[in-house]
Amino acid sequence: MEFQLQVDPVIGYVNSDIDPSLDLYAEIDRLKKEKNAVLLAHYYQEPAIQDIADFIGDSLGLARKAAETEADIIVFAGVHFMAETAKIINPGKTVLLPDLNAGCSLADACPADEFAEFKARYPNHIVISYINCTAATKAQSDIICTSSNAEHIVRQIPESQPIIFAPDRNLGGYLNKKLGREMVLWDGVCIVHQTFSEQKLVRLKVRNPGVPVLAHPECDEPVLRHADFIGSTSQIRRYTVEEPHDTFIVATEEGILYQMQKDSPGKTFIPAPPESGCSCSQCPHMRLNTIEKLYLCLKHEAPEIHLDEAIRIRALQPIEKMLEMSQSIV
Ligand code: 13P
Ligand code: SF4
Repeated sequence: MEFQLQVDPVIGYVNSDIDPSLDLYAEIDRLKKEKNAVLLAHYYQEPAIQDIADFIGDSLGLARKAAETEADIIVFAGVHFMAETAKIINPGKTVLLPDLNAGCSLADACPADEFAEFKARYPNHIVISYINCTAATKAQSDIICTSSNAEHIVRQIPESQPIIFAPDRNLGGYLNKKLGREMVLWDGVCIVHQTFSEQKLVRLKVRNPGVPVLAHPECDEPVLRHADFIGSTSQIRRYTVEEPHDTFIVATEEGILYQMQKDSPGKTFIPAPPESGCSCSQCPHMRLNTIEKLYLCLKHEAPEIHLDEAIRIRALQPIEKMLEMSQSIV
């Protein structure tokens, strides 16, 4: 069967029929080798994508991999800001995102023009931006951070230096509380982490005495208050390997449970419950990527990330600053 590629001129969404007899895993593998492509995937991708990735990681790990890869093509199984970051670092490489609609509520919450007006109200402040923002917002920032290195980076800024922290008010609020800072916060949230229910979490804890709660700092304060450990996806994953418990309650996107279960087949991982009746906590953006779209984007080298060069150059500086300031973070 001939492949019918349709790319929407605005969003670049690929929609095509695929021969059902094709072994997509083998095809993706073959195309990767043929095109010297690397497949980078975030922990929130569906298990099948995690299984075929060359590297799975958190935002910092993925940015580092993007910085060191010698591949000609980077296929980013993640969301738009992650692929954009890879392109900012690698202007000469082709960076593909299987579905250009894979956005992020945090990036969407911080439009660059509104952020410029906000910044102008705080003239003496430096800007630390969470990597979950657009290239145009990164271009207005002094330092980028991820959930793995945010605390480490803020600690390096003298207390006398006022800071704007954008766009995640939960991560910023968590850092303010932990470090005794008064960073000015942009009011953005992650739609996935914001919806964990404190009340249901407390009930779950009561039913599972002694079981530690591991939470991502994108969760809001009432949920973080009940956490025994707060960290990035890779830090939470490491905790479940290194700590001697056999059960954990996990408050982050449920894709990470797949690697946790693979690391520790004998352990039990209980997803923290969201407010809604549904017991799953999947990021609707991350989950737009599928094996089929991955195959098509690698085959047709589309949709591709393109950036305005002036924005790219300005956005590169705070990313390089982050990589330099967080070398000791594993
Ligand atoms: P990390 O994997 O860097 O902890 O980030 C989580 C996240 O929400 C990515 O969008
Ligand atoms: Fe954005 Fe939240 Fe999805 Fe991560 S989980 S990509 S922060 S919406």
